[in-house]
Amino acid sequence: MRLAKYLADAGIASRRKAEELIIQGRVRVNGAPALEKGYTIVPGVDQVEFDGRLIEKEESIYILLNKPAGCISSVYDPQGRPTVLALLKDVTQRVYPVGRLDYDTEGILLLSNDGEFSNLMMHPRYETTKTYQALVRGIPGEKALTTLRQGMELEDGRTAPAEVQVLNQYEDRARLEIKIHEGRKRQVKRMCAAVGHPLIELKRTAIENLTLRGVAPGEYRFLSPGEVQSLKDKALRHRR
Ligand code: URA
Repeated sequence: MRLAKYLADAGIASRRKAEELIIQGRVRVNGAPALEKGYTIVPGVDQVEFDGRLIEKEESIYILLNKPAGCISSVYDPQGRPTVLALLKDVTQRVYPVGRLDYDTEGILLLSNDGEFSNLMMHPRYETTKTYQALVRGIPGEKALTTLRQGMELEDGRTAPAEVQVLNQYEDRARLEIKIHEGRKRQVKRMCAAVGHPLIELKRTAIENLTLRGVAPGEYRFLSPGEVQSLKDKALRHRR
């Protein structure tokens, strides 16, 4: 197994970051620095140390959380706001959010200690479909919907095409369903604002075919091995 994957699986860093740690000489195998990013090891036989600490491969866990609004989806917040980790009552492993949801966004968030899985879910090349329900100001017309669907210029580049449909129309607002493969910072918020329909509320309702069914806000469940495998298989089919 590649050393970088081993480190990623142990929750030390993403695979790419682990390669940097290897090149920096911070990783030792059987007492000697491993300085090549493609270094391979035999798990359970070779002893791996990171910054002098022995690394043992943790059991991989995969959590589906229904993130409520009003908490932050990172492991630490310098402003002291509550993080999603505080919601995981009986989880002893060090897990990380797979991607981000904004402080005021609610809905499905995966957390895991499997760096390789996180990379598969987050990297745009694997085209993981994320479904959002966006309550926006005003009623978007065909022009705005077409712009959202075809892709649009944002300050960090053009967005990929999205699937967009209007779920409900109210007097002065509308609820849209938006499916995207990318995961740029505040992407849905910026897309809606750019077509003149700022967000009022945002909820992520699905990641691929995983939904919030049976998981109330603030609660979570573990993914089954079959669910994890099917997410991985789906991502790898999209490898370009
Ligand atoms: N897009 C956003 O604007 N916010 C999120 O939290 C997720 C996607």
